[in-house]
Amino acid sequence: MTTERTRVAIVGAGPAGLLLSHLLAQAGIDSIVLDSRSREEIEHTIRAGILEQGTVEILSSTGASDRVLTEGNRHDGIELRFAGAGHRIDFAELVGRGVWLYPQHEVLRDLIAVRLAAGADIRFGVTADRVEDAAGDRPRVVATDAAGEPLEIEAEIVVGADGSRSVVRAAVTGSQTGGYFREYPFAWFGILCEAPPSADELIYSNSPDGFALISQRSATVQRMYFQCDPEVDPESYSEEQLWEELQKRVPGTTLNEGPIFQRDVLRFRSFVAHELRRGRVALVGDAAHTVPPTGAKGMNLAVADVVVLERALRALLLEGDERLLDDYAETALHRIWKAQHFSWWMTSMLHVAPDASDFDRLRQLGELRSVVESEAGRRYLAEAYTGWPLEGLA
Ligand code: PHB
Repeated sequence: MTTERTRVAIVGAGPAGLLLSHLLAQAGIDSIVLDSRSREEIEHTIRAGILEQGTVEILSSTGASDRVLTEGNRHDGIELRFAGAGHRIDFAELVGRGVWLYPQHEVLRDLIAVRLAAGADIRFGVTADRVEDAAGDRPRVVATDAAGEPLEIEAEIVVGADGSRSVVRAAVTGSQTGGYFREYPFAWFGILCEAPPSADELIYSNSPDGFALISQRSATVQRMYFQCDPEVDPESYSEEQLWEELQKRVPGTTLNEGPIFQRDVLRFRSFVAHELRRGRVALVGDAAHTVPPTGAKGMNLAVADVVVLERALRALLLEGDERLLDDYAETALHRIWKAQHFSWWMTSMLHVAPDASDFDRLRQLGELRSVVESEAGRRYLAEAYTGWPLEGLA
């Protein structure tokens, strides 16, 4: 058994783990990042696409990504569509902020490139099996390396940034699942297609046939989703059927169609772990919480956790001050539950539940009208969507 030592052992080379190691390195704190996946897999997995303004500011001001500003697209609003009409939520006018369309795998490419150029220790293909001694001063990650050999990493802090199926979570909550949990009776059918954009901004559409989101990736590639049964087999639809489903859910817009080259079904879950920290082990990002994708909060919430945790780790590891780490869970949970509410609210307001009665349907239209016809309603949506101020920015 090989035992290696570092100051911070980070399990998971997703946005949270990589950004944390980048920020720690800028403060002179070494870390080792490990991930069971290959670099290739991490850089090519299709995930969400919307970055809050605060996320963009962190990525660009710390040198984590310059491309977000040059390749990403700023969006100053979204459209909510229901009952046959579109309603623009004008972020710029309402809150003076915006969001950026820049896919998560591009953020990951940028972070990996920046970290490797700085000589960072990132271990791809290394699987964490468990964390030991969480409550002690020297917690350890017990792992298996790419060649199947056992490996131990001993650190002053272990961070679980290892996604919704986190292995680290068990060391924090006492079980692999321990958390507050909600499931939804629908999922999203996502496609990527080769076509020009169908609209300037994202369209979130509530229709009698169910929800659809018309998003984008570039001038030639588009991302779209429609509400579906969570058990649906993605291969069971022909391309014609997919376009028919999408078109009928955005009445008033004719979607630009093109070859569909990727399809997937995204399950909807809301989850918050019962604990975010135990002793010297902390959880960030999807390991700590998951949100349904309707509010576009997943990656942004991971970044917000990292900002809070990184400041706490700096205080601890550079000044021996434990107070911010003691406050980590409470500080992070403040935003996490606001984002949970926003994601649940956008989801429930826009989707058609399979057992919805006529009352439910008409009440939902009343809710949508309450939002778009009130400046306060539109402003709440704009504030939450573009992101609340980040806690703990230095
Ligand atoms: C996406 O483009 O993948 C996307 C955009 C907005 C969302 C969710 C996903 O709310």
